[in-house]
Amino acid sequence: MQANMILAIDQGTTSTRAIAFEVSQPQAGRSPIGDQKTGGAFSPVAVSQIELAQHFPQSGWVEHDAAEIWRATLQTCREVVRKAGGVGRFAAVGITNQRETSVIWDAATGEPLHRAVVWQDRRTAEATGRLAAAGHEAMVQAATGLILDPYFSASKYAWLLDAVPGARERAARGEVLLGTIDAWLIWKLTGGQGHVTDATNAARTSLMDLATLQWRPDLCDLFDVPIQALPEIRNCDALLGTTDPALFGRALPIHGAAGDQQAALVGHGALNPGDAKITYGTGAFLVANVGDRPVASTSRLLGTMAYAAGGTVDYALEGSIFSAGSAIQWLRDGLKVLSDSRQSEALAQTLKDNGGVYLVPGFTGLGAPWWEPEARGTVVGLTRDSGPAHMVRAALESLAYQTRDLLDALKKDGAPPLKRLKVDGGVTANAFAMQFVADICEVEVERPAFQEMTAMGAARLAAYGVGLTSELWTPPAEAPAVWRPRMGEAERARLLKGWRGAVKAAIIAAA
Ligand code: G3P
Repeated sequence: MQANMILAIDQGTTSTRAIAFEVSQPQAGRSPIGDQKTGGAFSPVAVSQIELAQHFPQSGWVEHDAAEIWRATLQTCREVVRKAGGVGRFAAVGITNQRETSVIWDAATGEPLHRAVVWQDRRTAEATGRLAAAGHEAMVQAATGLILDPYFSASKYAWLLDAVPGARERAARGEVLLGTIDAWLIWKLTGGQGHVTDATNAARTSLMDLATLQWRPDLCDLFDVPIQALPEIRNCDALLGTTDPALFGRALPIHGAAGDQQAALVGHGALNPGDAKITYGTGAFLVANVGDRPVASTSRLLGTMAYAAGGTVDYALEGSIFSAGSAIQWLRDGLKVLSDSRQSEALAQTLKDNGGVYLVPGFTGLGAPWWEPEARGTVVGLTRDSGPAHMVRAALESLAYQTRDLLDALKKDGAPPLKRLKVDGGVTANAFAMQFVADICEVEVERPAFQEMTAMGAARLAAYGVGLTSELWTPPAEAPAVWRPRMGEAERARLLKGWRGAVKAAIIAAA
């Protein structure tokens, strides 16, 4: 029996999935994952998924149960191993995960000491605000690429250490451990043998020096996080640990890990300067490869890792849009103008244009490049003629306008010119929206035939790390769908002017 499969774990904000990828020559046929093609030389052969409970103990707080995450990981992995023909078929494990979400656990018992504080959680806004007011932002940004914001792990770690009695003292003695979800899963998968993270996850804590890929003691002091509690940082394709043989019946090397947005970048093969991807999920994350030196953003993008693998360390600029697909969900579940999100394409196209209606989906504030946490959803340009189709069209168009704002910020930051924009995520099934992104952003938009880019990235890193493939990325067999800009300059300028007026209105309303 050939051990030519990778067990990819994709631990996301709303669910935990395991996917078995068979690494072979490109094959024809259908994927078991929805209505998609196969992954070319990486064919998904089994999948298992479990939804994750969301806890909202107070306004602005979001928590996950780390023990539930571990149970779901084990259950989905075991199911996939069984469906794929047994553990003997597998060469390695790859992990990708929701980033920044912060876990605290007891090193002796391996039990979480508090619920995990999720990346969306704003409970430490005051703490990061105090650091910014005290003038620390420039130093933090120069070292880590990140702005001071509760989004990142450092202030969440400090909060957890204060919330759990005795944790701070025990953490300083190495008895209590801190980590992002990758580190938590590596700890559990190895039976507590390794406290390890990968550089792309570490880059989201505000504690790692982007140039050296090491924790910075001065940043640990600033955020009041004992360095002894943090995991060791390794490259994305390194040996990160070996699974406890009791879990799957045989030990497997964990040979790949990356935060989900960075894993998607690898999945897309956006491995060179000028390559960029955007994943349209609930929110949307643009990650642009800027090459082998970190670029300091002057337009409020985040400096971060692209990947550290195959002897290459590449950096990225990243822009986060907080509401993308969630705007369509709101039309369906809140306004109830859609019974199914897929109706949005046809409804938007019943109009010849947007009729001057713009929707700024600032439901949870505006992310990059605005960073306006108090902004809220805003609709401008309504007339007596406006109806559900205008709202739907405005929501779909907002994806493109927000993407354009990020691309403009990238350009201002001197990022290498974009070759093509690679896209994935649910909304990319909407051809109207994708054509509009191409038109508004003046860029070719490319959607791969197989779209599980996050899990694919983790699988590619692990396959490469364990020596199953000799290239980190090779083009998939199936041709991608491509949308090319065809809108005239005057129309684009007119639409962008309307959008900018709407964003201004959203920001003024928040003031
Ligand atoms: O930074 C947060 C991001 O990694 C979460 O991604 O896909 O789990 O919502 P997702």
